[in-house]
Amino acid sequence: MPRLGVIVASVREGRNGGPVADWFTAFATAHGAFAVELLDLKAWDLSLLSEPNHPRLATYTQEKTKRWSAAVAACDAFAIVTPEYNFGAPPALINALDHLYVEWHYKPAGFVSYGGISGGLRSVQHTKSMLTTLKIVPIVEAVTIPFIARAVDGGLFQADEKHTKSAQVMLDELARWTKALHALREPQS
Ligand SMILES: Cc1cc2nc3c(=O)[nH]c(=O)nc-3n(C[C@H](O)[C@H](O)[C@H](O)COP(=O)(O)O)c2cc1C
Repeated sequence: MPRLGVIVASVREGRNGGPVADWFTAFATAHGAFAVELLDLKAWDLSLLSEPNHPRLATYTQEKTKRWSAAVAACDAFAIVTPEYNFGAPPALINALDHLYVEWHYKPAGFVSYGGISGGLRSVQHTKSMLTTLKIVPIVEAVTIPFIARAVDGGLFQADEKHTKSAQVMLDELARWTKALHALREPQS
């Protein structure tokens, strides 16, 4: 079964990203197309790009980078649970992406974004250009959650039908892309 890494991009104290990620992780597990792996950037606590060599070389010097490399390499697809900060992507997400290179290649990614009226869409657009540089294929189907503060109650994300329908469509499509891109990751002769 392909492995889906759910990247939780907010590392903020009191984040709404936790409840959204909890809901999406449970939904993706029940969906059944993927073995789901939580990649919570708050728990990973990666330092700010402190490796001396370009990530393209994969010559990492620090244990945590080596573990991050192995965790990302083990995934076949990603779902990025992300807020929007000042119309852009959260710095922890940019840093986590910048840490590695080949580990991301030829894998699809879908977004679960949230924010105010924008539902985090400007953060998604900002991140997409970085993803394509890393040869990640961002898919168009997404879960978009406007007015996040109204949707989290008692530490729980209150998913409605729009959210569950869009999560279903996004995961179905992610599974198709995962199968298609697998061939590109086979060793070239
Ligand atoms: C530094 C900062 C910048 C923000 N900028 C935006 C923004 O540009 N657009 C938006 O819709 N919400 C913005 N917000 C509000 C967030 O959408 C809201 O706080 C959300 O809960 C942040 O995700 P988190 O709780 O998982 O960190 C911002 C919040 C913070 C803390």
